[in-house]
Amino acid sequence: MESAAENPAGRGWEVPAEHAARFSWEYDSGRSRLLSLYQKGKDKQWDATERIDWSQTIDPGNPLGVPDELLPIYGSRTWDRIGRDEQELRRARQHFAGWQFSQFLHGEQGALITTARIVESVPDLDSKFYAATQTMDEARHVETFTKLLDQVGVTYPINPQLQELLNQTLRDSRWDMAYLGMQVLIEGLALAAFGTLRELCQTQLPKQVLAFVMQDEARHVAFGRLALKDAYADLTAAERADREEFVVEACYLMRDRLRQREMWEALDYDVADCMEYAENSPAWQFYRNSLFTRIVPCIRDIGLWGDTVQKAYADMGVLDYAGVNIEGLMAQDEVIAESLDTRQADGARVAEVEETIAVGVSV
Ligand SMILES: [Fe+2]
Ligand SMILES: [Fe+2]
Repeated sequence: MESAAENPAGRGWEVPAEHAARFSWEYDSGRSRLLSLYQKGKDKQWDATERIDWSQTIDPGNPLGVPDELLPIYGSRTWDRIGRDEQELRRARQHFAGWQFSQFLHGEQGALITTARIVESVPDLDSKFYAATQTMDEARHVETFTKLLDQVGVTYPINPQLQELLNQTLRDSRWDMAYLGMQVLIEGLALAAFGTLRELCQTQLPKQVLAFVMQDEARHVAFGRLALKDAYADLTAAERADREEFVVEACYLMRDRLRQREMWEALDYDVADCMEYAENSPAWQFYRNSLFTRIVPCIRDIGLWGDTVQKAYADMGVLDYAGVNIEGLMAQDEVIAESLDTRQADGARVAEVEETIAVGVSV
């Protein structure tokens, strides 16, 4: 598979860590909601090799099947130069999908490593149980996106801003920061990006991958919310201010700095023109704000809702998302995933679908 850009960090990345591995001797003090989430985590595992028909092929020259109007540079000077060259257009679409799915893949590996960390560092045993199921989910997601990228045919190294977010999340020794950085912020951002792409994508294979992964992510975000809601009820003012500051900084970083610069460079386009055009296009601004639909209601729900956070969200134009019905969205994610499941729809399967939908509503 062609890697579009050289990875500046080489073949791997080591993040130094200093945190406690915590044992708990309280084997029987489970919180029932967390344990029921753990049960669902066990029940709802799926196997990408069975659930997805990998003999379906995608056209590398148009992996997502989206209209060109949705490419961030549609209408720019660069676009005027390449827009009539079908070969070049095929290359641009392939790189666009390759960059996007590569970032999803690296983010999934970040989630795999972070949830393994949570197993180790979270104090209570029922959270360790749940995080163990999520660790397996994330391994399956890494596997699934790797297979999909094989078909797209172009991969990219991790975006430097995504790497910085992971770095901040993993370097912090406090156990709750792994939840806040990964379960709420990075997963929240990814979930919104998956959702937008799932809706726009006209090709069955990537659509299925996104929908099936989202089905698991609903549990992950529910886990983060439950754990942090409890933990944050007793924060001191200083501890709360510290976490709110982290949220604000991370959200600005995700909104203002997470860009596709390395993709324009690899394509050898006019980087300044592409960056500036994408930045100011209404479609991109709408997309950029929509990435916060799942984060903002969650931040409010876990109680990090002081003036600093509300002011920042108002400044970013995303404060209204605080009213989004996140549980309704997640129930819908379940329905969409099941509707794209092409395995045999026998009686047992139909019952399972109905139960899954009920679970989505109750979480
Ligand atoms: Fe995941
Ligand atoms: Fe996840």
